[in-house]
Amino acid sequence: MIVKTAKTAGFCPGVKRAVRMVYEQAENPSKEIYTYGPIIHNEQVVEDLEKKGVRVLNSEEEIRVLTGGTVIIRSHGVSKSVYDLIRDKGLELVDATCGFVRRIHEIVWRESGNGCDILIIGNSTHPEVEGIKGWCRKDAYVIETEEEAEKFHYTKKNKLCIVSQTTFNYKKFNKLVEIISEKGYDILVLNTICNATEERQTEARAIAREADAMIVIGGRHSSNTQKLFEICKKECENTYYIQRLKDLDVQSLQSMSCVGITAGASTPNNIIEEVQNNVRNEL
Ligand code: F3S
Repeated sequence: MIVKTAKTAGFCPGVKRAVRMVYEQAENPSKEIYTYGPIIHNEQVVEDLEKKGVRVLNSEEEIRVLTGGTVIIRSHGVSKSVYDLIRDKGLELVDATCGFVRRIHEIVWRESGNGCDILIIGNSTHPEVEGIKGWCRKDAYVIETEEEAEKFHYTKKNKLCIVSQTTFNYKKFNKLVEIISEKGYDILVLNTICNATEERQTEARAIAREADAMIVIGGRHSSNTQKLFEICKKECENTYYIQRLKDLDVQSLQSMSCVGITAGASTPNNIIEEVQNNVRNEL
């Protein structure tokens, strides 16, 4: 019986950096420390930070009423208006926006400045996509499904610059771009899916293909974990989405000869290890 844990499971470089930056700030609490949104989609980490005095702000309105302190921008990034607001309020800004996301902001800012409209392939309600939209100087559209790509109708003469949410499924991105390309618009396609996501998805798919059961660990609201689950479920019917060990019925895995494990970008190592050790002991 084999347990295969993906090498790419867990914190990606962008999340590692963001979490480290918050802990560094929390160690030196000369000011109030806030994160704009939870630093990662992991309740345990957010609770731990809360104990160290780090508070979560959930809206621009909550920034507006602050009279001091440090606001940390998480790896998903934010729109330009949030940076402007933090600066206008005279608050200290610590920017943990991941380099991959920052690159998208720069692309859409530049291309929309050159007269392009922007088409973002991703989830329109995800904060990363909202942030990207907030750097577009012309119209920005968001599509997520093949159906939306089929229905997408662009009548303007401007060039259309297509970018992707960093955590989007690589194959799906190509499919959606193919659909849009067939419409004959003047397009500029930039694949902005981050390497970490692509590698994680490829490895998860390969493990799930060989496994009798697949465990995907991650927060309920983590979109990259949800996508990992989708990918694994396609390859392996017995795919389980869990947040932590207690969500897993380890005994149901007893008859399996190969169990795969992967985890989203915001899953801490200790949770992955705990699941892995328990599954190993059970088999
Ligand atoms: Fe950055 Fe990719 Fe992680 S965009 S935050 S390295 S999933």
